[in-house]
Amino acid sequence: MLAAICAAYGGPDAVRVCDVPKPTPRKGEILIRMRAACVTSGDARMRAARFPPGFALPARLALGIRGPRRAILGAEGAGIVESRGPGVSRFKEGDAVFALFGMRFGAHAQYAVLPETAAIAPVPRGFSFERAAAIAFGGSTALYFLRDLGKVAPGARVLVNGASGSVGIAAVQLARHFGAHVTGVCSAANAARVLALGAHATIDYAVRDFADGRERWDIVLDAIGNAPIDRARMALAPGGRLLAVVAGLGATLGAALRPRRGALRVLAGTAAERAEDLAALARLCESGIFDPPIDSVFALADIAAAHARVDTGRKAGAVVVTIPD
Ligand SMILES: NC(=O)c1ccc[n+]([C@@H]2O[C@H](COP(=O)([O-])OP(=O)(O)OC[C@H]3O[C@@H](n4cnc5c(N)ncnc54)[C@H](OP(=O)(O)O)[C@@H]3O)[C@@H](O)[C@H]2O)c1
Repeated sequence: MLAAICAAYGGPDAVRVCDVPKPTPRKGEILIRMRAACVTSGDARMRAARFPPGFALPARLALGIRGPRRAILGAEGAGIVESRGPGVSRFKEGDAVFALFGMRFGAHAQYAVLPETAAIAPVPRGFSFERAAAIAFGGSTALYFLRDLGKVAPGARVLVNGASGSVGIAAVQLARHFGAHVTGVCSAANAARVLALGAHATIDYAVRDFADGRERWDIVLDAIGNAPIDRARMALAPGGRLLAVVAGLGATLGAALRPRRGALRVLAGTAAERAEDLAALARLCESGIFDPPIDSVFALADIAAAHARVDTGRKAGAVVVTIPD
């Protein structure tokens, strides 16, 4: 089968499409014939070994010293169940599914194997494989941070820093769905899109610092990594929560060991990868509440160009790769 392989950490050209053996599903696993996948910010981080401050050594020890141990990247994608290993009961051949491969990676290939218990759900009615491939990464991260850590309630004032990225776009739509008043921090070029997705207001980060003390929010979700608590406290109301989607090792440990900072709370960590969250997102997609926008679409043969697009840091939504038959 064809697969995009990253043998050593490097730039976009470190990824090459090669012929590799097709995997076989073992007990409890399904084999998915991939139709579309995304190059997520997580894939680009992994390819380039561009880890948040303090994580470089532990990440290389865990994930591969000179290159990713799991050389086929791809944190999310969608396709059709081709076959099942013994004991699989949740899925059957021919089911159209989308999945969060997460740290397992592996979606950038014609075939991928996952345990049936992994974060997998049926493709929402009316969704193409390209759109379905773009649901899980941003959607499940936003759901985990807003619902599980942020406990966003109706009427809460939520600020999304980085509102035009995959996580930010999902956070704007989900916070709005939870009944919050939503402000998106984005460039002027993306303001109309962020408003159309449900934000009540936007702040152009080139013109105004959201932490200038003029306004306060109950929740600040930082999907950029430039709002540590010392900055975010100027934007948080008493009792407010900083949801640090991007945080270095020090900030992550600090959030775990000392979440309370006076009247504020700091929450960080890695989003959960759960099938029930994907099923919830699929229901929101079917009811028109959540729609993951697509930034651009590339053929698998052009996956290096897809990585280069992600590396610009400017993508607005998902960078999708279509997988050939
Ligand atoms: N903790 C977790 O479990 C978890 C899970 C998933 C992702 N993440 C992390 O979350 C981060 C966001 O991921 P993503 O996929 O959403 O990223 P992304 O899609 O690559 O974000 C790109 C967007 O960021 C905007 N942007 C750039 N600089 C900005 C600034 N200073 N202020 C506001 N917006 C700015 C860009 O808009 P303009 O071009 O208009 O500037 C662009 O639309 C990544 O670092 C990723 O590693 C963490």
